[in-house]
Amino acid sequence: MAILITGGCGYIGSHTCIEMIKAGYDIVVIDNYYNSKPEALKRTRELAGKDFPFYECDIRDAEGLKKIFAAHNIEAVIHFAGLKAVGESVSKPLEYFDNNVGGTVTLCEVMRDCGCKRMIFSSSATVYGMKNPSPLNETMEIGGVTNPYGRTKWMVEQVLDDLCYSDPEWSAVKLRYFNPIGAHESGRIGEDPNGIPNNLMPYVSQVAVGKLQQLAVFGDDYDTHDGTGVRDFIHVVDLARGHVKAVAYALAHTGCEAINLGTGHGYSVLDLVKAFEKVNGVKVPYRIAPRREGDIAVCYSDPSKAAKLLGWEAELGLEDMCRDSWRWQSGNPKGYDA
Ligand code: NAD
Ligand code: WQD
Repeated sequence: MAILITGGCGYIGSHTCIEMIKAGYDIVVIDNYYNSKPEALKRTRELAGKDFPFYECDIRDAEGLKKIFAAHNIEAVIHFAGLKAVGESVSKPLEYFDNNVGGTVTLCEVMRDCGCKRMIFSSSATVYGMKNPSPLNETMEIGGVTNPYGRTKWMVEQVLDDLCYSDPEWSAVKLRYFNPIGAHESGRIGEDPNGIPNNLMPYVSQVAVGKLQQLAVFGDDYDTHDGTGVRDFIHVVDLARGHVKAVAYALAHTGCEAINLGTGHGYSVLDLVKAFEKVNGVKVPYRIAPRREGDIAVCYSDPSKAAKLLGWEAELGLEDMCRDSWRWQSGNPKGYDA
């Protein structure tokens, strides 16, 4: 019996492969390398201390997927594969709907045809939209998402709800991630964005390493303790461990559950910058810039459902996240490109 991990060479997927193997699972990994590199797979295998099968395969390739299901006894799928850049999704909506929604439908069809009906899906706090107040909990109505990327996550959540309703043998756990940052404590794997980063932590660490000159802090006039945006930053290794617990849950239960993976604590942009400077003894020059369109002031989770259903809670703090992000960035200034 094995767990199939789609997008397993990406940022969250690679960390999850290691935690799954540590927990004693056999894994099979697929990725099309759209946003990852073979070097990430190589290092993940080294850190896991165990080899595992890998296929360069696109989740939209039903025939390719069927061969993988035929070759392995897959009992559940952790589904990371997808496109994730909010800005890009506005200019390339069709690519996002095709990959994230169409790809997931194809994957679910193959799973159904091969008799594997358990999925852990990478959803996002973005499905809570602009209007729900934090702490965000899973009983709140989702929707009101302002960009195509977020809409793909919202749509896939509906697909999984309907699928589980149609067939009581299905089990789907929709994990709503808050803001994953940090890296493996070895500094060997981490987030390796293409081009100029969109997200805060990769930007901060690339400023610290001298690749970028200055951070632009998007807005200091929000209704928060220091005026900058507040987010629920979560260490990627904690997030990966949440997937291990979600797999155990999906193996033991049927039906569809949405579960937040966050810490329950909000830190501001400047809290993060200051923690990063203090923990790592580096400077992060910044300037205050106008608000970024589509941003909300505050977003953090109510993590109590994950504690109750999965027996999971985040263990690592903001300083761990800053330290580990820096170890990865400073040891790999060009990411996986040597
Ligand atoms: P990532 O881009 O690092 O990893 C995704 C992986 O999927 C990449 O290795 C990419 O090559 C692969 N992939 C993309 N399309 C594919 C396809 N059609 N077939 C096969 N492989 C494909 O992203 P990540 O940060 O690790 O995110 C993983 C998942 O979590 C994504 O679905 C993302 O939307 C979701 N998510 C991420 C965040 C975040 O802040 N990182 C937050 C919430 C949700
Ligand atoms: C965090 C805070 C910015 C960059 C995004 C997606 C979300 C999810 C996680 C996938 C905000 C501020 C940022 C910068 C800044 N991804 N910031 N200067 O927007 O909370 O969430 O990633 O599902 O869907 O929208 O994360 O890291 O971009 O921003 O001041 O250069 O940092 O304004 O307050 P966000 P982020």
